[in-house]
Amino acid sequence: MRKSSIAILVVLAFAAAALMGTMAVAQDTKSGKVEDTFKIKDPIFKKYKKVPVNFTHKQHSVDLKIKCTDCHHVYKDGKNVWKDGDKAAKCSSCHNTPKKNQKVGGVKVYSAYNAYHKNCRTCHKAFKKQDKKSKAPTKCNQCHPKKK
Ligand code: HEC
Ligand code: HEC
Ligand code: HEC
Ligand code: HEC
Repeated sequence: MRKSSIAILVVLAFAAAALMGTMAVAQDTKSGKVEDTFKIKDPIFKKYKKVPVNFTHKQHSVDLKIKCTDCHHVYKDGKNVWKDGDKAAKCSSCHNTPKKNQKVGGVKVYSAYNAYHKNCRTCHKAFKKQDKKSKAPTKCNQCHPKKK
């Protein structure tokens, strides 16, 4: 075999391995399929000052046994009526302003920026407080690793 074709094979092998590494298995829930790990990459943030955040959906919902309703909700009269089997709508379908909170029918609805941070970061901070060794990220760069 010529040197160049060996080089191509090596490159292909690496590409295949890289692809398999990034391929996330999907969790099948009553509410639909969801990747085990994915970048949230919410289209509401047209430009990213930071980097899209990696989220381990399965780790949170299965391994850590966090309830679906700690993150997914539909509010009726101030109560969360979302239940297993309901559609898990995109956060930004309701939190549909990037930065500024809005008022919808007299109810304050967080911007996408605040909705994500209040959801993710508030819970992580509470865990960190309970257990200093918790891996729950609370610092900016732990969720938004520095751009290379
Ligand atoms: C627990 C994880 C977490 C921490 C800690 C965190 N963020 Fe975020 N942040 C998110 C998530 C999730 C989004 C939505 C990301 C997406 O769409 O991929 C986001 C979005 C953003 C955005 C809007 C998108 C962009 O890149 O322009 C900015 C700006 C941002 N965060 C800044 C910060 C800053 C500054 C800190 C520290 C004070 C911080 N974040 C800490 C999870 C986190
Ligand atoms: C710790 C927070 C958290 C928990 C717990 C959680 N989810 Fe999610 N889930 C998310 C986030 C964030 C997304 C991505 C939302 C987006 O892109 O706007 C998502 C997405 C999904 C999707 C994909 C929706 C789509 O548009 O493709 C489904 C289905 C889903 N979740 C179902 C569930 C079910 C069922 C449970 C409970 C067994 C659960 N989730 C628990 C945060 C969570
Ligand atoms: C169907 C519309 C809808 C969707 C989808 C939605 N939200 Fe909300 N969310 C609301 C409304 C409305 C409120 C205000 C409720 C109130 O204060 O009575 C709210 C409140 C919140 C709050 C503050 C109250 C609390 O529960 O801690 C956070 C944080 C939040 N949402 C994060 C998220 C995240 C993260 C997602 C995606 C996983 C999401 N939301 C998806 C409508 C929605
Ligand atoms: C209700 C609580 C809760 C919510 C909401 C939550 N998390 Fe977490 N998360 C945890 C806990 C607890 C851990 C730490 C697990 C450990 O120590 O092994 C964690 C760990 C993580 C880790 C580190 C994974 C690792 O093992 O290194 C990332 C990244 C993360 N969360 C991202 C997010 C993002 C992004 C969101 C919002 C979309 C979010 N989390 C919402 C509880 C939560």
